[in-house]
Amino acid sequence: MTLSRQQFLGLSAAATAAAALPLDDSLRGVAARHGFMFGAAVRSGALIADPRYRALVLRECGLATPEGELKWNAVDADRGYDFHRAEAIQTMLAPSGVRLRGHTLVWHNALPRWAELALATSETGRQTLADHIQAVMAAWRGRIDSWDVVNEALDPGEADGMRRSPAFRGVGPDYIELAFRTARAAAPMAELVYNDYGLEGTDTRSDAKRRALLRLIEQLKMRDTPVDAVGLQAHLSLEQAFDQRSYAAFVRELSGLGVDIHVTELDVADHSTEAVSVRDRRIADRTERFLDAVLDTPRARSIVTWGLTDLYSWLNDWGRYYRRDLTPARALPFDASYRPKPMADAIRRAMRGAPARAV
Ligand code: XIL
Repeated sequence: MTLSRQQFLGLSAAATAAAALPLDDSLRGVAARHGFMFGAAVRSGALIADPRYRALVLRECGLATPEGELKWNAVDADRGYDFHRAEAIQTMLAPSGVRLRGHTLVWHNALPRWAELALATSETGRQTLADHIQAVMAAWRGRIDSWDVVNEALDPGEADGMRRSPAFRGVGPDYIELAFRTARAAAPMAELVYNDYGLEGTDTRSDAKRRALLRLIEQLKMRDTPVDAVGLQAHLSLEQAFDQRSYAAFVRELSGLGVDIHVTELDVADHSTEAVSVRDRRIADRTERFLDAVLDTPRARSIVTWGLTDLYSWLNDWGRYYRRDLTPARALPFDASYRPKPMADAIRRAMRGAPARAV
């Protein structure tokens, strides 16, 4: 068959549109058609070693967050930047149009010892913080357009709600403002995100943390600090009660402060010893109720799960999160054989059912 130039152009325009807006039932495709982005945390080692995993990520994800490859101890363990692991991810995913999220610049974990000491000292804290943000964001300028600038700064156990992290101790309470201002200057086009966990429960601790988050964002906005969005990590647990209506009200109030909302690390832990099919159904149900609450606000933009297949879930690597019966977690949308679980359908349903937003 020979094509006229016109037919050829028509076909390639359609192909381009399809690439931007896949018509299939992948999570990426459904997200794109409903004005969202869908993605997952990814591991460079597994992407290299496991072609089936790589194919799954490319099929399902429009976004990918390096799970550890951009943390401080991964990029600057010993005073000399090294991005090769994050770059491996970019090389494998970017040509297929997968966008990367940067995670994370300022966190009390994953700090090399030298940085932990330097941050916690008032003479060196400010410069160390600013230099790190500047160097990492400049290196990725144009390649990463959304960054978790500050991660997990809140502690509902403190009277002021602020975690006593190394940066808090060395720089002082305004380290968050310093971080966001430095980030804006380093990459003016990048979206700057404040990211945190432990916000979903109905217990007093979750409630205190929600209030601390609202207060933090309100204060940052009052001082014109360039924070564009809040990342709700959403490490959910079936052992924790969830109130959809009050959580939706919280997300609405948060977005009303003038920030976009992202779900940045969704997964669902459980300790049930029931049949896997029962557990999967419950996990899907919790996922759907949670997402319904979040996507209710028009400023909710993206959903990222913390891993894509149960084969590579941090819940299975970390001692403290091992299930009490030591069987594997079922926390993610695809099982350990890369097959979709009810959780994948739940994510699709939530996106399809959300109030319409611009595509
Ligand atoms: C976790 C990774 O998944 C693990 O592989 C790593 O060992 C520790 O960090 N909140 C965050 C993430 O912001 O960076 C954490 O990721 C999970 C909790």
